[in-house]
Amino acid sequence: MQAEEDGSKLSNEELTANIVLLFGAGHETTVNLIGNGLLALHRNPDQLALLKARPDLITNAIEEFLRYDSSVQMTGRVALEDIEDLGGKRIPKGESVLCLLGSANHDPAVYPDRPDQLDITRPNVRPLSFGGGIHFCLGAQLARIEAEVAIATLLRRLPDLKLDDAENPEWRPTFVLRGLKELPASW
Ligand code: HEM
Repeated sequence: MQAEEDGSKLSNEELTANIVLLFGAGHETTVNLIGNGLLALHRNPDQLALLKARPDLITNAIEEFLRYDSSVQMTGRVALEDIEDLGGKRIPKGESVLCLLGSANHDPAVYPDRPDQLDITRPNVRPLSFGGGIHFCLGAQLARIEAEVAIATLLRRLPDLKLDDAENPEWRPTFVLRGLKELPASW
């Protein structure tokens, strides 16, 4: 709100647009990372026990949650030039391309060791969940820190937390974003 360049500040319209963007891009995505990560942990009790025993694994665990069940499943691009062969497909200039981030995160060529398995000790996790290139997510580091603080604190403060139904939670009926409608728990 205070940002200023050569005496010029953001107008009310620009401020409003940024606030709307931050709620859309920055809130639900991170909420879903925390929810999807907690669900994945409770569906894999060995990983939950490991993280409780070794809280120092939390940073790598967050990368693995991002990879395993990405809260953003896709992003889009427009081809700026003819691409003759991308995985056997020709993409003409001007064509829209949907990039399936969730699928790429499970690519066995990148993760040869059981890509569909949650492994918080997995080495070299490089999730594409924040996109790439010049549009790489502006809030990636903030989201990582928020998820790390939220999940580490929950495990520490509520060690007996149990999900009411880890097998059949209700998902939001969304397409690009992926997250739970609710995740009832008790302790
Ligand atoms: C787990 C949480 C988040 C995920 C998975 C996520 C994911 C993404 C993805 C996939 C993109 C598009 C990147 C591309 O097309 O290459 C993006 C863009 C963006 N994100 Fe995030 N995001 C998250 C959290 C946040 C937060 C916390 C903020 C801000 C506080 C934020 C702000 C933005 C903005 C401003 C862009 C547009 C960047 C541009 O077009 O140059 N995101 N995000």
